Amino acid sequence: MLQTVSTILLFALQVLADPPGGSFTPRIVTKGYGNWSEAYEKARAFVCDLTLTEKVNLTTAHGTGVAVGYSFGVIPRKGFRGLAWDDSPTGVRGSDYSSAGAAGLNLAMSWDRELIYLQMMANGAEHKAKGLNGALAPVVGPLGRAPEGGRNFESYSPDPYLSGIAFGESIAGMQAGGTIAVGKHYILYEQEHFREVRETNDFGYSPFNITEPYTVSCDDRTFHELYLWPWYDAVQKGMAGVMCSYNQVNGTQTCQNDHLMNDILKGELGFQGFITSDDGSQHSGIASALAGMDVTGPGETSPNGIDGLGISFWGPNLTLSVLNGSVPEWRLDDMATRIMAAYYYLGQDHDFPDLNFGGGGTYPTFGFIYPNAKLDYQQINFHVDVRDAHADVIRAVGANSITLLKNVNNTLPLKKPRQIAVVGEDAGPSMYGPNGCADRGCNNGTLAMGWGSGSTNFPYLVDPLAAIQARALRDRTEVQYVLNNFFAKTQIDSIVQQATVSLVFVNADSGEGYIEIDNNFGDRKNLTAWGRGDDLIKEVAANCSNTVVVIHAVGPILMEEWIDHPNVTAALFAGLPGQESGNSLVDVLYGDVTPSGKLPWTVGKTREDYGTDVLYAPNAPVPHINFTEGLFIDYRHFDKAGIEPRFEFGFGLSYTTFEYSDLHIEKLSSPAVATPAASYAPQTTFNPQICPSSKLNPSDYTFPSTISSIPNFIYPYLNANVTYTSNAAAPSSSIAPAPAGPQGGPPELYAPLYSISFSLKNTGEVSGQEVSQLYVNLGNGEPIRQLRGFNKTMLAAGVEKTVTIELRMRDLSIWDVVNQEWVDVTTLGTTVELWVGASSRDLKLKGEIAAAGGYYQAAAAKTATATTLATSTV
Ligand code: NOJ
Repeated sequence: MLQTVSTILLFALQVLADPPGGSFTPRIVTKGYGNWSEAYEKARAFVCDLTLTEKVNLTTAHGTGVAVGYSFGVIPRKGFRGLAWDDSPTGVRGSDYSSAGAAGLNLAMSWDRELIYLQMMANGAEHKAKGLNGALAPVVGPLGRAPEGGRNFESYSPDPYLSGIAFGESIAGMQAGGTIAVGKHYILYEQEHFREVRETNDFGYSPFNITEPYTVSCDDRTFHELYLWPWYDAVQKGMAGVMCSYNQVNGTQTCQNDHLMNDILKGELGFQGFITSDDGSQHSGIASALAGMDVTGPGETSPNGIDGLGISFWGPNLTLSVLNGSVPEWRLDDMATRIMAAYYYLGQDHDFPDLNFGGGGTYPTFGFIYPNAKLDYQQINFHVDVRDAHADVIRAVGANSITLLKNVNNTLPLKKPRQIAVVGEDAGPSMYGPNGCADRGCNNGTLAMGWGSGSTNFPYLVDPLAAIQARALRDRTEVQYVLNNFFAKTQIDSIVQQATVSLVFVNADSGEGYIEIDNNFGDRKNLTAWGRGDDLIKEVAANCSNTVVVIHAVGPILMEEWIDHPNVTAALFAGLPGQESGNSLVDVLYGDVTPSGKLPWTVGKTREDYGTDVLYAPNAPVPHINFTEGLFIDYRHFDKAGIEPRFEFGFGLSYTTFEYSDLHIEKLSSPAVATPAASYAPQTTFNPQICPSSKLNPSDYTFPSTISSIPNFIYPYLNANVTYTSNAAAPSSSIAPAPAGPQGGPPELYAPLYSISFSLKNTGEVSGQEVSQLYVNLGNGEPIRQLRGFNKTMLAAGVEKTVTIELRMRDLSIWDVVNQEWVDVTTLGTTVELWVGASSRDLKLKGEIAAAGGYYQAAAAKTATATTLATSTV
């Protein structure tokens, strides 16, 4: 597999070298992998041969006192070494000789399906090469309801369509790299404050005391059309694992929410893989098992965190629950089968590397396999270099995601400037080194990654100053710099007054709730630049008439204090680009790459303009967050409320210009009724009759005298003196397996109904890429405009091309809460307005799709009827 990955990357990188304008446009076909039916067959054969305790072992990680992280399911009798996994969306967390990629935010900013796929394939291949069966990534929850949300950067965009495409491509890429993608966090986990009792009460949120994690209320239509939407894409792409989140929904923990896991994820979406808890997001034993959870993450108890004591809701308690009938045996078989099906689906039964690192972020070569017990001292890190040529992909993502916000009089690209002044802490290295703070839990030097479990170790970090110096010297440009934001007014004034161009760097950070920086408890406490950023920019602009602002940030920042300053001649938003940060930036600053990123959210003029925010003070012992804004987050809210943003969703300038013309709408097929999932025969999921019943005799499951017990290790065995009452009539025994529909929901949803084509011309002087965006108004109380298609097109200067975007049934559908199904609005008599443009407010072409006037009972053949319904230009 590694070889395949290298070959594809090599091919991609040859293309990268290609046209001037430097666009990274490999055209590889997202390939499928695995086959669930076969995987299930193998999994059943494997699982039915296991004892009850062996099956329990598969479901329960061994606890935190194990150096190799989250491993579980060792079955010596079968020679099965068990499974292991690790974070994160940016790379293999806590390892060395692995890459540090760009954040999910940058993947979204790139709007580039191939680059998303390639970076995540590299990530998946690195996890595999370290011997990890799964990666706890990618992330689509939080979606980004409020811009302050601490983990938004791990994910993509508050727009569900863009997020769905990016999440789906990420899943496909990671799994093509050979590792199980564990998509997270399911679901409605939109803020860090109050996600866990222990963080809130013990880590300094005082005087707040909460008794349980926050609970979210969200209406069913909003749930389906916003927050659940991208999960459809992921399941359709074959996602093999899911992590349920910390929060509650309607007063029930997500990890014991029968409706969310059994009915929706495994039923409506046809999810075939397993669901694991997060660290401490499991709050019950029996309830979580019955509700559809399949693996307990670290294995140890919650609700107040991981205790490190080897006590589990499952492990021996699950053994007992099956013996006494509280959890039917078929459910345990189903859990084990789903886990093994994911393993076989990824082909991990062949040539899978041994786990070759452990020990967390400090990369010790030797250590205890069981650190809590100080047992088994041996080599735990073999320092395997898994980076391959991935740096090139990461650099390309960084460059092709940079979003140009302002560029007066062609300030950029730089043209051999005589003297450059580089100003700001964010331009240079951290005095503590790129990995100087655990889990990137500080903000020193240039910001290229957020903090928390979305981080990974940098193998190196090319800071902007280093890259600018290296590039500038080629032109004999003089480079001066000041990296102090607080006490260097004199030095700053002096260098920027001399400079031909001043580059001033600012940033804003956030991360996961277990780390606090400057009173940002994961979530940002405001939307302004950190470290006196606004003052720094104003100081430079007051002294230099050619000031270029570079922003590294986790999301939108407020820019009103300086963006209109006449001396601010250009501004770039660079997100969190990972290890190649400086190189990616230089590629764009010097025009080797024409900027092509577009904003995946809105930049507002005030924080209040967004209409949504984090709940910072609990409103009850169980904080309650009501998503009353419904469908109207980010640009949907700005449009509805008539608020002028600073930069709208989808905005991004280029060094060239594009002209749109000649819109055609072609009808490909008629909408079909999307058959509800429940009416499909269960697909490949569990058949309760498949495994013969185990001997339910407790003496067979007591701690074997042949092994000596390791302290704080979670075993599946019962204590010798345990007694239980068989309770075959327990209410739980009547629960049935989730009726799984087809993977990704009804296939009709994905049928292309219309082909929208138009002409796109590069009218400037350099080649570049344009992200054309398709917006629709679906009527029926839907947003004024919502994204339902995009295409990133590379065009050489002067070249014109026809661009085509397909609209699928789901793109024209709303969720019918009464009938619990997707309905194409044209069948409701709605005429759909559509626009093609360069952003959500720079709409170039307009057309409409006439109401279809009723349901079509069967999917019509997918032949083009060549009906042009409307063509017009605004
Ligand atoms: C908690 C985080 O919420 C989750 O994203 C991560 O995968 C686990 N910790 C493991 O680090």
